[in-house]
Amino acid sequence: MEARMRILKIIAMLASLASVAYAVPGTATFYTPPYSPNACIGVHLSGTLPLIAAASNVIWDNGAACGRNYTVTCTGTNNQGISQPCRAGSVVVQLIDYCPDPGCPATFDLSQEAFAVIADPNARKVNIDYER
Ligand SMILES: *[C@@H]1O[C@H](CO)[C@@H](O)[C@H](O)[C@H]1NC(C)=O
Repeated sequence: MEARMRILKIIAMLASLASVAYAVPGTATFYTPPYSPNACIGVHLSGTLPLIAAASNVIWDNGAACGRNYTVTCTGTNNQGISQPCRAGSVVVQLIDYCPDPGCPATFDLSQEAFAVIADPNARKVNIDYER
């Protein structure tokens, strides 16, 4: 009994380590409506809030990223202005647009609505973890 509990605890620990390791660090900024026309043909907004994002080259994958969903979590400040910009929890965004490099300001350019779920928009740019 004891040994089995110990093994279950170890499995639970490894599982949580694995999910942490899978999240990739990046940055997020936001843009404001209108969100169309957008670069992903045939991907339509779903849900009441436009929880969408534009992808930089590292994500864009030559357009294959269109329609993919990413879970984005704020991890900290990326500017001098606001030291504690993060809000609790994460947001799932669907990729509908392309944020071309050079010039794309972040890994993800989120809709203002999506950014506001995870961070104070006054911060304009935050550090994030993301996973597919
Ligand atoms: C992303 O999420 C939307 C809304 O839930 C869903 O309609 C869509 O099929 C998802 N895309 C993928 C690639 O799973």
